[in-house]
Amino acid sequence: MEKSSAQWPHAILFDEPRLGRVTLKNRIALAPMTRTSATEDGRATEDMASYYARFARGCYSLIITEGTYPDEEYSQGYRNQPGIANDAQVQSWRNVVDAVHREDGRIFMQLMHAGALSQGNRFKDETIAPSAVKPKGEQLPFYGGQGEFPLPREMSKEDIEQVVRAFADAALRVKEVGFDGLEIHGANGYLLDQFLTDYTNQRSDEYGGPIQNRVRLHVEVMEAVRRAVGQDYPLGIRISQGKVNDYYHKWAGGESDATVIFETIAKTSPDFIHITEYDATRPAFDGGETLTGLAKRLAKVPVVANGQLGAPEKAEALIASGEADVITLGKSALANPDWPKRVMEGEPIGEFDFSILQPQAYIKEHEL
Ligand SMILES: Cc1cc2nc3c(=O)[nH]c(=O)nc-3n(C[C@H](O)[C@H](O)[C@H](O)COP(=O)(O)O)c2cc1C
Repeated sequence: MEKSSAQWPHAILFDEPRLGRVTLKNRIALAPMTRTSATEDGRATEDMASYYARFARGCYSLIITEGTYPDEEYSQGYRNQPGIANDAQVQSWRNVVDAVHREDGRIFMQLMHAGALSQGNRFKDETIAPSAVKPKGEQLPFYGGQGEFPLPREMSKEDIEQVVRAFADAALRVKEVGFDGLEIHGANGYLLDQFLTDYTNQRSDEYGGPIQNRVRLHVEVMEAVRRAVGQDYPLGIRISQGKVNDYYHKWAGGESDATVIFETIAKTSPDFIHITEYDATRPAFDGGETLTGLAKRLAKVPVVANGQLGAPEKAEALIASGEADVITLGKSALANPDWPKRVMEGEPIGEFDFSILQPQAYIKEHEL
């Protein structure tokens, strides 16, 4: 007799959740991961198609692509990052989408604007940000950067309008290519998160000051993208406290900031919110709920949870408690491109080894 999903170990991970109109075949998805493996002019390659298809073959129900830049202005963050800003780039993604679909996977694109964290943009020599504040930390060597980040230029109202339009225009291209959905990168220290974050946003206009103002760009981007792609196209947004250049950042207003952020974003009717924390199972603030739990309770939409969930027991616990609907794996997926299959078959989960991202993050031969 065939095993039914109810008999699999960690069976709850193999329910079929919905993100908007898309029903997934299980609750396990690939986290967005920049691998700087596109051509110099930002086209997705055959290797990228094989790399992504491998996760679909390993039974990840959903692939979220690496952060992809929407325009030929200030959004590109890294050399060899893919874009979806022009026709050649659009064409190049069709292979990737087809390869994942052939393996019965679903694929959402993540759209990302690097803002002040851009360390490799072939279109512009300067970076832009809500305020002229030099980013903390240093450029990421595994994406080919070194030394301090440059001081960004403070964005004008026209710059902000251009960014909102760029996300919406790119979103339409994402839909036209045949992606099953779309995630806006509102997290991890990149442009939208720079607006959300108190110390990088020192504006005195309607985008700065109280948290209600600092979340405005998230809302404007989501609303413009929604208008572009239509009501029934799966659309979500990623939110975090920590950043690639400031891992341990916490929202100063704690749960009260979280309430404003999630309730405000909920009004844009996202099909999901993707929460990433260093460890998604830990309290977001002192001893309280997890950030995914808070998002779920306050936004009342499906929540995708990320952060150190490579042990099946941890992933299962977060789903079973109702704090999340889907989990995404980053480093554990790189070590286990067939993680869902391994869990189904009761096989051991491999440990992530940083050498995979050395000397740089580009996709390695054995990952195809
Ligand atoms: C090589 C690498 C590249 C990443 N690139 C992105 C990205 O493009 N967009 C994004 O939102 N997060 C990115 N992340 C963060 C992951 O999506 C994830 O949040 C992080 O790895 C923590 O999850 P984990 O504990 O499962 O690895 C990246 C992480 C890694 C390791």
